[in-house]
Amino acid sequence: MLQDLQQLPPDPILGLSAACAADPNPQKVDLGAGVYKDEQGRTPIMSAIKKAEQAWIQEEDTKAYTPQMGVAGFADAITKLLLGDGHPALARARTLQCPGGSGALQVAARVLKRARDDVTIWLSDPSWPNHRPLLSSAGVALQDYPYYDPRTHAVDFGALTAALNRADPGNVVLIHGCCHNPCGADLDEDQWRALAVQLNDRQLTPFIDIAYQGLGEGLDEDAFGVRYLAEHCPELVVASSASKNFGLYRERVGGVTFVTASGEQSERVRSHGASVARGLYSLPPAHGGALVTRVLQSVELNREWRQELEGVRERINAMRAALAEAMRERLNDGRFDFVARQRGMFSFLGLSAAQVETLRQDHSIYMVASSRINVAGLTAANVAYVADAVAAVL
Ligand SMILES: Cc1ncc(COP(=O)(O)O)c(C=O)c1O
Repeated sequence: MLQDLQQLPPDPILGLSAACAADPNPQKVDLGAGVYKDEQGRTPIMSAIKKAEQAWIQEEDTKAYTPQMGVAGFADAITKLLLGDGHPALARARTLQCPGGSGALQVAARVLKRARDDVTIWLSDPSWPNHRPLLSSAGVALQDYPYYDPRTHAVDFGALTAALNRADPGNVVLIHGCCHNPCGADLDEDQWRALAVQLNDRQLTPFIDIAYQGLGEGLDEDAFGVRYLAEHCPELVVASSASKNFGLYRERVGGVTFVTASGEQSERVRSHGASVARGLYSLPPAHGGALVTRVLQSVELNREWRQELEGVRERINAMRAALAEAMRERLNDGRFDFVARQRGMFSFLGLSAAQVETLRQDHSIYMVASSRINVAGLTAANVAYVADAVAAVL
């Protein structure tokens, strides 16, 4: 039976990193996969995480199964990180630890499907390429709403609201909480407020995917949308990831948070999350969740982590400014100024697939065919080289 399955092509983004790693050109630049990199091109373990890990190794005294909702303290710590201390919805919110943001999205989608068998989830166009396969494997129907305007390099809010006016009551709208992947264009605060009104008027349920809290403007600033909708909408589902802001990619740490009319109701909804998980992977892995909990609960580690995360954010934003400036110098215009205005790890350079291919073949600069770049792949040492090459292919 298994002999009928054919070899699949490599994942387009993961395959790109492998191709770059095999490239002998010493000037090669990997702007592909969505992993933070420092000035030396490494993806370091944060020192607060390292310290939490050392303490955890000393203290851990069992490898018995993780509790169903996750390691002790994780759910409350993540709920507070998302909503902020003193948020009015804290008592109505319940979090379930999941294997990464991907696991959280999958569990959330299956809970939504249990709540409403004919549920439709609206996705931004464009969105993280994995949203579609991941959510459709949960059996939900998908629809697109327009989001990014490549001419203005910003959110086309008029088109977004016009599309959502066609959504049926009971539909779910997936929104990137911050640092939109792949386009880097986020909703501003007024747009979040207007969106809340529209969602409520049309009885649409918001579902926020926040995988980059702290990498855009700051931990609190990046959670504006989550916090606003949690306060102003009757229900909210949030899938969060600790892959990027804690640098715990391979440990698979994330959470799904349900905010409903009451704590008891959210508890009931979360029990469905735990039951969905039982049928998928049974229980969440412990290690990464224990590290996140420790960092968030310890005053010193929390401070250290926030400082490190600030360093990550500042480096990304400095590289954004540096690329915009380098392009301005080469083109004598502000065509690429948008890179400095956008936030998070990603931006579209607005190049054709042929130009992207030329960059790879002639300059060993690797990016996704859509010309999405991981800004964190830029360094003070390579930004001029990248800008020269981009100017050359234009
Ligand atoms: C928008 C978005 N959501 C979710 C995820 C999932 O992250 P994780 O690695 O924690 O599963 C990612 C990762 O790239 C992402 O970009």
